[in-house]
Amino acid sequence: MKVLILFGLLVSCYLSNAQFSIKFEPNYDESKVPEFTVTDPLTTFKGRKVRNVRVWEKKRRPELLNFFTENVYGKVPGELKISEWKIVEKGENAVNGKAIRKQVDIIFEKGNNYLRFNILMYLPKNIEKPPIFLGYNFYGNHTITDDVNVLISDAWVMDNPSFGIINNQLTEQSRGVRINRWAVEKIIDAGYGLATIYYGEVDPDKNDFYDGIHPFFYENGRQQPAANEWGSITAWAWGLSRALDYMENDNEVDATKVIVFGHSRLGKTSLWAGARDERFAAVISNNSGCGGAAMSKRKFGETVARINNSFPHWFCRNFRNYNLNEEALPADQHELIALIAPRPVYIASAEEDQWADPRGEFLSAFYASPVYNLFGKQGISYEKMPAVNQPVQNTVAYHIRSGIHDVTDYDWEQYIKWADRQLVNK
Ligand code: GCU
Repeated sequence: MKVLILFGLLVSCYLSNAQFSIKFEPNYDESKVPEFTVTDPLTTFKGRKVRNVRVWEKKRRPELLNFFTENVYGKVPGELKISEWKIVEKGENAVNGKAIRKQVDIIFEKGNNYLRFNILMYLPKNIEKPPIFLGYNFYGNHTITDDVNVLISDAWVMDNPSFGIINNQLTEQSRGVRINRWAVEKIIDAGYGLATIYYGEVDPDKNDFYDGIHPFFYENGRQQPAANEWGSITAWAWGLSRALDYMENDNEVDATKVIVFGHSRLGKTSLWAGARDERFAAVISNNSGCGGAAMSKRKFGETVARINNSFPHWFCRNFRNYNLNEEALPADQHELIALIAPRPVYIASAEEDQWADPRGEFLSAFYASPVYNLFGKQGISYEKMPAVNQPVQNTVAYHIRSGIHDVTDYDWEQYIKWADRQLVNK
């Protein structure tokens, strides 16, 4: 009987997925974006108007944070501190002699569980305690540079034959394959450090919860998080906070000036990391799209149902309540951006990245801005999108670059210019 029920369930799941994928046609037509009311970040769920920073901080911010925690990304089920860190490698002559390189293992141990992730850091030699860009990479630290001293991760990785990555393993063959996305020398020349981590070391990006950081918190034979507990995005965001814990103990960096950065799924992650953890000084989301900066209710390009179907492990299970039901969302992604206020936030889109809904990413920045104004900070004051390659760089910053879904030198040049003004007062 049980077997039959299980079989029935599997078949119906399969059918509903199959039907969904047959039916799903992304909308790329602005005239077909549904009309909807934009929820007001400055009105509480009970309808009270927020007129000052105190009410924002005491009432509205906590209830919004709670909404995203319980219904979108999932909460971290408990506390886990770093057990130990180890500087496993250090070089005094990196990036054409301009930087030191440090590779630091961050280790967690609890019961039978063990996890280690490695932070690769490049720090400019001529600046004492530099501000630092911190961001995950997709295929291992050794892919962001041709520096032969960068260690190769032994964690599970998604195959990518064009990068020579097969059997879910990294080898020397993939060294430097992502150099184009990381303007290391520009960052160092501008007086910033760079810290990066392979995201798969914190939680492998696959639809199970057996590996990575999740199992540290299972009790009584449980094998997956509860409906309001963390998917992978929260796990990755949690990892960024632990990297920051480490930096607070590293006297070679300025931990009060850590700019958390991420692209695409890792841009969703950087926004959530910055919203959850107010120690991050500034946040950059590069082409983060659905579940990141883009407003879900627009249903332009990728939608909630589509992302939950394709990547069932990214969000918490409660987020599925909004599959084909975005209208019911009591808060949209602009309110995620608002949670970062008054700290600087940069949202960037790419013109050809329609799947991520550039206009929806821009509108989030715009609709989050009243919260920045409440703090006396300048957000995005015009509802009209700026032209391609014409950045608007206030405390809330936005640009749409020409080209595809990617991270380019142009993007990094903007982030540096903006950080110079917002964080370093250059
Ligand atoms: C897919 C996914 C996006 C995500 C992107 C990425 O395209 O649909 O939501 O941002 O992958 O992370 O590369």
